[in-house]
Amino acid sequence: DIPSLAETYAEFFPIGAAVEPGQLAGLKADLLKKHVNMIVAENVMKPDAIHPTEDSYNWTNADKIVEFAKTNGMAVRFHALVWHNQVGAWFFKDPDGKPMVDETDPAKRETNKKLLLERLDKHVRTIVGRYKDDIKSWDVVNEVVEPGDPDGMRASDWYKIAGTDYIETAFRAAREAGGPDVMLYINDYGTDDPRKRDILYGLVKDMLDKGVPIDGVGHQTHISVHGPLVANIIESMKKFAELGLDNLVTELDMSLYAWNDRGDYGDDVPSYIVNRQAERYRELFDAFKANKGILGGVVFWGIADDHTWLHNFPVQGRMDAPLLFDKQLHAKPAFWAVVDPSKLE
Ligand code: G3I
Repeated sequence: DIPSLAETYAEFFPIGAAVEPGQLAGLKADLLKKHVNMIVAENVMKPDAIHPTEDSYNWTNADKIVEFAKTNGMAVRFHALVWHNQVGAWFFKDPDGKPMVDETDPAKRETNKKLLLERLDKHVRTIVGRYKDDIKSWDVVNEVVEPGDPDGMRASDWYKIAGTDYIETAFRAAREAGGPDVMLYINDYGTDDPRKRDILYGLVKDMLDKGVPIDGVGHQTHISVHGPLVANIIESMKKFAELGLDNLVTELDMSLYAWNDRGDYGDDVPSYIVNRQAERYRELFDAFKANKGILGGVVFWGIADDHTWLHNFPVQGRMDAPLLFDKQLHAKPAFWAVVDPSKLE
């Protein structure tokens, strides 16, 4: 019988995992119950899943996750109220069905913006209002920064129609609907990259100066055995902590492949890669523990290698193995590296 990951880290921070409703029974559920004390929906709380058309909400799958968490004494995170992906096209169409982004008339653009922000406000209030007692940790906006786009802001429909006002509207509505004790996060990937980090920092600082209620930064932390440096990840957290913000690791996994690598180890993953993954996980968690004061939790994007978004990405047919448990749900060297490294020696 192996130690529990969440119990091992109990004195430091909560440990979470992303789940799909279909994983909440059987062996996968047992694994989750033993090792994590927080869950987040991998897909079913995203805008298109929970609010597919203007007049309909689909609570069924989201409720399943909340119920499972309650039954098992786990916390729940909400991912995500606002995203440019997995969002219904209805948000961005004017009353005639025309895409708002195509509008050139300035007066109509103003009306469209107002309508979009009203829809957003209602979306946020409805969802936060429903779950505020059961969900205390919220990804309010996801992936709004993009260094390659104008102003460093992702050129999504949200931004093209409403500028950064959509971010402000989403946070203010979430606070009003959720009250003072919900934690509201701005979530993004690549926050260790100094260029992206500084844009995000500037945005967050502007928002805070305007009184926008942001409580923390979610660092997705989709990393690889080859990078980035753990020191950069921690440095970024320290910067945001200086603004008085919480940091959360929200989507942790560690691909066997560098970002641009299109190769495929197949079933013969070299042992140096397996060992490197374990060593890097250990280094990362040692740094997390040393910085527990500025880190509110660590959430994995999945729990075992049988199910990860990295399968077939970016190479069709290539499997990855980014988590602490293998396809058979057994503990990997990476698990022992963060729970009891003496077992590896
Ligand atoms: O639900 C449909 C199903 O009906 C259909 O038959 C099937 C065929 O493709 O697709 C299913 O939808 C898939 C969905 O996951 C649910 O399984 C989508 O194709 C697939 O694109 C989607 O992928 C998700 C991805 O976000 C979408 O962008 C991944 O599971 C999810 O892990 C991933 O998560 C994101 C975070 O939200 C944000 N940060 C990055 C992270 C990894 O990309």
